[in-house]
Amino acid sequence: MAEQKGFTLWFTGLSGSGKTTLAKAVERELRQRGLKVERLDGDIVRQSLTRDLGFSKEDRDKNIERVTFVAKLLTRNGVATLCSFISPYREVRARSRAEIGNFVEVYCDCPLETCIERDVKGLYKKALNGEIENFTGVSDPYEPPENPEIVVHTDRETVEESTAIILRRLTELGYLEAEAGEVYSEEEETAVEERLRALGYI
Ligand code: ADX
Repeated sequence: MAEQKGFTLWFTGLSGSGKTTLAKAVERELRQRGLKVERLDGDIVRQSLTRDLGFSKEDRDKNIERVTFVAKLLTRNGVATLCSFISPYREVRARSRAEIGNFVEVYCDCPLETCIERDVKGLYKKALNGEIENFTGVSDPYEPPENPEIVVHTDRETVEESTAIILRRLTELGYLEAEAGEVYSEEEETAVEERLRALGYI
């Protein structure tokens, strides 16, 4: 196998949009292929590296700045680095992209209403009650990416479907080698095409 080319897969989206779930699913797949993988996740990183930071614009920017530094080191050492952060500001994500280089932006597109319904951590309820200030999507901005390499619609795709979309794009971009399993039979091709058409992608 050729030497592993490092890259950063940067998941951005609202809280509850599926960033962590998908990063974990992709991590599993990449490990199965024998890749070196590290996952940096907002909820975890904020308990250590950026423990001192809150959610003002300034603090969010610092959070992303520090994580970007780590992702850059990992990426240049051939690690598949999976970052999941709301990272609400376009300009700050652009800075991460420029800094890291091999940067693949994944927009976890999910309507706010769905994230509120899911409310996995119960934080939307609190934010809507005014118990948490500056909550992304409720009382703080989120700027969707304009040209992400990948968009997944987590309200209408299964985790497996979104994961497959991400892996396929990574292969197209030259970060992964096509697997034998990715050479589809004609029947499978038709099924995939039908599914993509139903989702409005083609
Ligand atoms: S970021 O904006 O700096 O990129 P990050 O992804 O690290 O955010 O952390 C977001 C997580 O922190 C959310 O998923 C949620 O669990 C928690 N959180 C606590 N307060 C807030 C807030 N005001 N806005 C958004 N997320 C918050």
